[in-house]
Amino acid sequence: MTEPLRVISQEERIRKLNEAHNNVFLLDAEDIAIDLLTDSGTGAMSTEQWAALMLGDESYAGSRSWKKFEKTVGDITGMEFIFPTHQGRAAESLLAITQVKPGDIIPNNNHFDTTRANLLYVGATPLDLVVDAGLDPDDESPFKGNMDLAKLESCIHEHGREKIPFAMITVTNNSGGGQPVSMANVREVKSILKKYGIPLVIDACRFAENAYFIHEREDGFQDKSLLEIAQEMFGLADAATMSLKKDGLSNIGGFFVCRDPHWAESFQNMLILREGFPTYGGLAGRDLEVAAVGLREALDYPYQQYRHATVEYVLNRLIDKNIPVMKPAGGHAVFLDARRFLPHIPPMAYPGISLVNALYRAGGIRAVELGSVMFGHIDESGQELPATMELVRLAFPRRVYTQSHFDYMLEVIDEVWQNRALLKGYRITRQPTFLRHFSCWFDERTE
Ligand code: F0G
Repeated sequence: MTEPLRVISQEERIRKLNEAHNNVFLLDAEDIAIDLLTDSGTGAMSTEQWAALMLGDESYAGSRSWKKFEKTVGDITGMEFIFPTHQGRAAESLLAITQVKPGDIIPNNNHFDTTRANLLYVGATPLDLVVDAGLDPDDESPFKGNMDLAKLESCIHEHGREKIPFAMITVTNNSGGGQPVSMANVREVKSILKKYGIPLVIDACRFAENAYFIHEREDGFQDKSLLEIAQEMFGLADAATMSLKKDGLSNIGGFFVCRDPHWAESFQNMLILREGFPTYGGLAGRDLEVAAVGLREALDYPYQQYRHATVEYVLNRLIDKNIPVMKPAGGHAVFLDARRFLPHIPPMAYPGISLVNALYRAGGIRAVELGSVMFGHIDESGQELPATMELVRLAFPRRVYTQSHFDYMLEVIDEVWQNRALLKGYRITRQPTFLRHFSCWFDERTE
């Protein structure tokens, strides 16, 4: 599959960004040259996936496509109850609605924005308990996505087991720079939770990339296949949510899996109400076919090797130029450290947005802010608090861009870096209650 890339002039880009209220989410995709907004649902399908798509069985209940999907997800996760959903956030939402009460606390290494929003929506508090190394962009520890075990223990002591219906761990840790979680950490998290009878739910969006990191970086896994590593990790969990738009190598889809029949029953009831019959869960039969193939392809070692080499290549070129980045390389993206890139712009003037907009104006590249717009929050007194990091993510769609696209991107980043002193901060002029980064409007500050 090939697609033409439309490159519009810089004057046009400046006009388009103004019309989009300085929020790149509101731009038309055809006005983007290289789209690194997300790695979610933006990958290219393989020949095997296109072939599988033609086999889609669109029977309402118990289709052949569902059987293939169920078998694949069951083989990888080892879970008994398997439910397709239309996206990852649908799985999160139904889990939150069925298992979480107002006042509950849900620990995670770092909640992704949709997980956080779904928990806030039902009146719970999402807590981020990543290790301190995960908050330091210069720390080169191999597993910066790990959960801090001491923080987890004290969270359980402080709030009490009854307030914690489950804990989560996100692999890889998207909000924390796509950093991996080690098998040892998941095992230790599980053993702490087990003492208190708290179930462990894995947010498995990038489980195959995480398995690759374990294979490369953790002792004792070099002779295991990525599938075996993934199976071992899911074996430690009680349930998982998944967006198939990442390591399902699919353009749409998600799932929820669990072992507990009571969880399964309440999830299924809400699934039927909101998503669809349990054997299609809001997806077409052809989507289930594509995901069943994609999940296996994501566990193909050479595919992961090439993908990680691409991320590392870009990261090393940026490090060569002393451009501040999150180190070491994450799985699905390169993260620029906007706080150090633009030290003259304070967090509450959103340096990440300034950098994202500069990349678009300079070269038609679309990135995304993971900083105080996405993760900042308003405290009880109404004061806006900054996020712990101001990152700009350049996410790599799977099997889409080549090295020359990334070389072009590196030139654009370098140009913005040379002219960084000229960049200004932003203020928000309009925002919704939840997930404001998707649709809020910005004005450039004049000072
Ligand atoms: N969990 C994580 C860790 C994610 O990265 C995402 C999506 C979701 C859950 C929700 O999945 O989009 O299928 O509803 N992340 C995308 C991103 C949107 O750009 O990182 P979804």
